[in-house]
This record gives sequence, C-alpha cells and structure tokens, in this order.
Amino acid sequence: MSNKNIIVSGIQPSGELHIGNYLGAIKNLISLQNESKGSLFLFVADYHSLSGEPVSADTKRAQVEQLIVDLVSLGINPEKTILFIQSHVPEVTELAWILNTLTPMGELERMTQFKDKSTRQNENINVGLFDYPVLQAADILIYGANNVPVGKDQLQHLELTRTLARKFNSHYGNIFKEPQALLSATPRIMSLTDPLHKMSKSHGPSSYIGVFDEPSTIEEKIKSAVSADNSLFEKITLLSPELVEGITITPSKSGSQNPEIETLIAGVKNLLTLYREFAPEYFKKLIAPELVEGQTIINPESLRYGEIKKNLGEAINSHFAPTREKRKEIKNDKQKLLDQITKNGITARTIAQKTIQEIKTKIGLS
Ligand code: TYM
Repeated sequence: MSNKNIIVSGIQPSGELHIGNYLGAIKNLISLQNESKGSLFLFVADYHSLSGEPVSADTKRAQVEQLIVDLVSLGINPEKTILFIQSHVPEVTELAWILNTLTPMGELERMTQFKDKSTRQNENINVGLFDYPVLQAADILIYGANNVPVGKDQLQHLELTRTLARKFNSHYGNIFKEPQALLSATPRIMSLTDPLHKMSKSHGPSSYIGVFDEPSTIEEKIKSAVSADNSLFEKITLLSPELVEGITITPSKSGSQNPEIETLIAGVKNLLTLYREFAPEYFKKLIAPELVEGQTIINPESLRYGEIKKNLGEAINSHFAPTREKRKEIKNDKQKLLDQITKNGITARTIAQKTIQEIKTKIGLS
C-alpha cells in the first residue's frame, strides 16, 4: 500500500444535506482538498443507502446526482478530489464479504447507529443495516486510508475498521493501515428542536437546517430552536475561546430545579456553537474580556436570544448564498460533471482492483 496520506470519506445520498453534515465532515474535506493535504477520495455511498427504506430507481438516481451537484456547489472540486459513486467500485462489496468472515456478530450488535436505525425503521431491520459498518470498513481499507474525516457519530464504525484491519493483518499478513478519524471542531451538531439528539433529517424538518433551505425557512427554523431563560444559568465557560466543544454551562439555583435543564443547556450550547461557526465576529462580542484561570466566561446576562437568532439566521443565509447560486449554474450543465464523476470512478476502481488482488493472494483465493 502507498505511503502517501490517503483521505477517504463517504456520504449517503438520502435527500438533502444539512448543516450537521457540513460542519461535521464536508467543511473539513473542502479545507483538506484546498490545502492539498493528501489524496482525497470522497464517494456517494449509494450501496449503504439501500439499507434504508427502498425508493424507486428514478428517485435513487436523482438522489445520487443531487448529492454530487450539492457537494460540488459547496466547494468539492472533482478534478482535485476523487469524487465518485460507491457502486462504481463493486470490489468494495467483495472486500466487505471477506471482512464479514472476521467480524463477530457481537461487535455489530452493539453499534449505536444500528440500534437507533432499528428503532426508527422497525418494519425493515434488514441484514444490510446490520452489516453496514463492515461495508464502511471495506470502503476505507480498500483505498488504504490513513485519515477519515467524519462526524462523531461515525467513531464507533472507525473503531471497528481498525479492529478489522488488525485482525486481517494478523491472520493473513500485513496489508492494511489502521486509519484514524479526523474530527472537525464541530463534530456533533445537535437537533434544533431536541438538542439532546444529533441533528438528523429523521427528527422532522424543523429539527435541522438544510444547506439549501430557503432563507426565510432558515430564519424561521433558527427562531424556533430551543434556547432558554438566562436566569436558569449561573455562568457559561469556554475552556478556550477556540473550542466551543469545551463549553460548560452551570445552572443557577432555579435552573437546577428545572426538569428540562439538560435539554435547555444542550440547546444553548448548540446555538452558541453555530453562532461561533457562522457569525464569529458577533460571537466574539459575547465573550467577557476578563480571563478566569485560563477560561473565558460568557455572562448569561449578555445573551439576548432574539438578537442572536436573528444574526445567526442571516449569517447562515449569507454563508450559503454563493453555494445556492453555484448549484443553479451546475444544474444547467450537469453532464460534464457527471462524466468527470464516471472517470473518477474508474480511477478509484483501478486502485481497488489492485488491493483486492493482493488480498486474494494473501488469503489463497485464486
Ligand atoms: P452520513 O451520510 O449519515 O453523514 C455524512 C457525514 O456527516 C456527518 N454528520 C454529522 N456531523 C456532525 N453533526 C451531525 N449532526 C452530523 N450528522 C451527520 C457524519 O458523521 C458523516 O461524516 N456511514 C456514513 C457514510 C459512509 C462513510 C464510509 C463515511 C459510508 N462509508 C466510509 C466515511 C468512510 C454515513 O452514514 O454518513
């Protein structure tokens, strides 16, 4: 396998992208691409998406194409990044089968994503849903990834990928690297309406912000996001001004007695996280100038949610305004882009075929 820095990630084509996808993975991928940090493989995980509810062939094709257009509108350049369609490389399913034989059932049974999705689609708990993380491991290992930019919800799958790489190497001989997850500074964006859960489309349209939502919809959704009465908090501490993940909110006396306090704290943390990302200049104004033992304090009294939400809605809208424009342009001339994606699939497949050949030799399959 090559010694180069190989970066691999995938995204499911399941409708529209939300700002959790963007802040958890896509923004990071775009920076890695623009800073030429290694060879970047990014694919539309169409095989994985089959483990959800079935849709018609036309819908599936439209979802795949839409995701490609959306990723390019956001800044993925298919001439720099090997942006391709997962099923253009059928060898990943062959590797997934081989890895299946090394995967204990127990490892898959404890996967949080499997448990969550089984409750949500309880009429359709298919084997693909169960085996999903093994196909993901194959996606990552077949291109020899060192780094995998993803959100926090994928860490368990990454851990399994490393376990399977080690297991294969020790059974059959050294071939796989053990890839690391690359987390962004915002690896887990929470639902706007139920902030104890991650942002995801499954909690209804008002719980997430679509990257391509209309400006008025975005402003409406932010307006109704969970926030709280400031008297519920005593102080808000940022361990470092740069790290909103390190935010702590201490409830006041009345806050501690409020049965909803955990949800309210999570809602405010989420709003502040989004505020820092999309409106850093406004966010800075919230921070009190005095430093307390290396910690930065926000005085809850200074938080005016009406104003924060208004600024935040506007900031998100202007952040994605060029993306919306670019999407319109690309849509008018999609074919050139799709041809490039097909070419990229051939590049990816050539690499995968070489890896599969080496793997089969190691195992003794001719
Ligand atoms: P998917 O399509 O669910 O999500 C795409 C990316 O968005 C991240 N993400 C989030 N990050 C922060 N906050 C959130 N609320 C949030 N919601 C989603 C995800 O972590 C992901 O990085 N299993 C993958 C697809 C996949 C893959 C792979 C990824 C298939 N094979 C190989 C990496 C490597 C998935 O379902 O992502």
